[in-house]
Amino acid sequence: MITNNTTNLKDLLAKDEQFLSSALYRVFHVVAERGEGSYIYSTDGMKYLDLTCGIGVTQLGHCHPEVVKAAQAQMEKLMHISCVTHHQLNITLAEMLSKILPGEINNTFFCNSGAEAVDGSIKFSRRVNKGRPNTICFRGAFHGRTIGGTSLSSSKELHRRHYDPLLPGVNIVDYPNCYTAKEPEKEASRVLESIEKLFKSSLPPDSVSAMIIEPVLGEGGYTPAPLKPINFMKELRTICSKHGILLICDEVQSGIGRTGKWFAIEHYGVEPDIITMAKGLGSGLPIGAFSAKKEIMSEMPPGSHGSTFGGNPVSCAAAVKTLEVMERDKVLDYVSKTGTELMKHLDSELSTKGGSTSGGKSKANVRGLGFMIGIELASKEIAEKIIQDCFKEKMLILSAGAEQNIIRFIPPLNIEKDLLFNAVDKIIDLIKKA
Ligand SMILES: Cc1ncc(COP(=O)(O)O)c(C=O)c1O
Repeated sequence: MITNNTTNLKDLLAKDEQFLSSALYRVFHVVAERGEGSYIYSTDGMKYLDLTCGIGVTQLGHCHPEVVKAAQAQMEKLMHISCVTHHQLNITLAEMLSKILPGEINNTFFCNSGAEAVDGSIKFSRRVNKGRPNTICFRGAFHGRTIGGTSLSSSKELHRRHYDPLLPGVNIVDYPNCYTAKEPEKEASRVLESIEKLFKSSLPPDSVSAMIIEPVLGEGGYTPAPLKPINFMKELRTICSKHGILLICDEVQSGIGRTGKWFAIEHYGVEPDIITMAKGLGSGLPIGAFSAKKEIMSEMPPGSHGSTFGGNPVSCAAAVKTLEVMERDKVLDYVSKTGTELMKHLDSELSTKGGSTSGGKSKANVRGLGFMIGIELASKEIAEKIIQDCFKEKMLILSAGAEQNIIRFIPPLNIEKDLLFNAVDKIIDLIKKA
C-alpha cells in the first residue's frame, strides 16, 4: 500500500479503517478533497495527476464546469421521480444514445451502475431467448460485483472465492489474447474453434441465450480482441447469429469515447444485439444502461425489469451534458488521433514490434485503443514499483490483469496533449529504469 504521511492523514485513515468496510481495496492512501480537470487535490494539500479517471469514469476530467452546472440546475428542479412519471432528460438521453449507438440499436433501459447493466442484459437475453438457460463469457473478463456480474467474471479468483453457488449455466471460454499467445496469428481461430468444440461436445448452442464479451478486456488486462488476421468480433457475431444467441458487448469501461469511438465495438464494424454502458456516461454521477433494438427490447413487458433510481434526473442531466460537450469539442477525433500517436510513441520506446490490435510481439507488450492503453510488464512487483514511483512523482495510475502486471492508462479524454505526453515520458523513464 502506498502512503503519504501526515498526522491529519493518519487520523482520517484510522477512521476510514474503523468505519468503512474492509472489502474496499484502496490503491493510494490519499484522502481526495477536490477534483479539477486532470488533477485531484488531497486533504493534506497535495496535487495529483489522475491517470485513472476514478477507474475510467471522469471522461471530461474531474468536475467539468458545464457538467456540474447542468447537474446543479437539475437538482434545483427535480432530483428524483423514479418511474412514477416520465421525465424529460431521461427521454433526451435515450434519444441521444440512439444516435450514437452502433447500427439500429435504438432503445435503452437505464440503471445505476455497470454491474446492474450487465445483470439486466442477462435477464433481458433470457426473456428474449426463453428456455435457454446458458450464457457464455470469457476468461479474464470483469462484469461487476453483483452475484450475476461475479458469476460472469474471471479476472481475479478473489472476486469469486466463497461466493458459491454463483449463477448456474455460466460457461467460460478463453479470451483471445494475441499479445501473450504463443502463436498470436492463430489465437483468434484457436478460441473460435474452442467455442465450436464446446457446442459439439457439451453445450448445445440452442441452450445458450447470450454470449457476453468486452471488445477490449478491461480489468483483465487492457487487451483488445484481435482484429487481424481474423476479425474476432465479426466471427463471434456470425456464430451468435447462426445459433440465435444474443451477442452482448459489455462496454462499461470501453464505451463513451474511451477508445476514440463512441463504442469500442465500432472498431470491428460489428453490431451486437445488446450494449451495456456505465462509468463515463455520467462524468462521475452514477448511471448505467443497456441498449438494444426496440423490436427485441419490446420482449420485456412493463414491470418485467426496473430500478428505483435508474435514469435519475440529475445523473441524466450530467450524461446529456457529457455527450453534448464530447460532440461539440470533437473529443472522439482527439482521442483517436492522440491515442494513435501515444501508442506509436510507447511502441517505439518500449517495444520491439507490435501495436493496437496487430497481434505483434512486444518487449513491454504495449496494446490498446484510443485512451485505453495497457503496458504489460514482466511481473507484478515491477508494475507495483512503477505505480509507487509514479505516486512519488504525483501521478496516479492503476494496474490490471489477473497477475496485476499490466499498468493501464485511462486519462481524461480531454487531457492536454503536452500534459499527457510529459507524464507518459516520465512513466517510460521509470519503466526503463525498473
Ligand atoms: C467491463 C465492465 N463491466 C462491468 C463493470 C462493473 O461496473 P460497476 O463497478 O459500475 O458496477 C466494470 C467495472 O469495472 C467493467 O469494467
